[in-house]
Amino acid sequence: MQSRSLTVPAAVRRGEDMAPSRASRPAGAGREAWWVTSTLLLPALVLLAVLALASCGRPIGRTGTVATIGDAHRGEQALAQYGCGACHTMSGVRGAHGKVGPPLDGVGERSIIAGEAANTPENMVQWIRDPQSIEPNTAMPNLGVDAITARDMVAYLYSRR
Ligand code: HEC
Repeated sequence: MQSRSLTVPAAVRRGEDMAPSRASRPAGAGREAWWVTSTLLLPALVLLAVLALASCGRPIGRTGTVATIGDAHRGEQALAQYGCGACHTMSGVRGAHGKVGPPLDGVGERSIIAGEAANTPENMVQWIRDPQSIEPNTAMPNLGVDAITARDMVAYLYSRR
């Protein structure tokens, strides 16, 4: 009686013990795989994210859109017509020797427009069309440049080094 009551629970206990131990082995292997994955994959993902962010700020994206944003040749003419050169020096534009604003040669290589907005084609178009919408107190006037002409100007400005 006593021996039976001892052996049965012992067998049950062994049976119970084996189940969790079998189950815990793949779980342990899974944890180990997760650890390996996370230690190797996480830095790789972080590196990828950093590279992706870094490439956003580089001129690659900008030069990619320069060709599609507008007509640089028309932009050159428009910059002269609108009198931008009264305030800005642009070596390629006739009569553009102004010193009120910063020189616009190589403006595409600057990272910030007027110290306010990221230098993207869209922001540059917005700046040219309505500088006060980006910097309310700027001395640059709103010259009523239409969207297409502003894009042409940006295409020209980004094409200059
Ligand atoms: C009355 C003078 C004046 C005229 C005209 C003018 N600007 Fe400006 N512009 C400025 C000033 C001043 C700044 C600097 C703004 C600031 O940083 O607050 C500026 C800034 C800029 C910038 C940003 C440059 C940078 O390096 O951040 C661009 C681009 C620009 N102007 C384009 C033009 C274009 C295109 C025209 C013609 C449609 C034009 N501007 C006409 C005065 C002028």
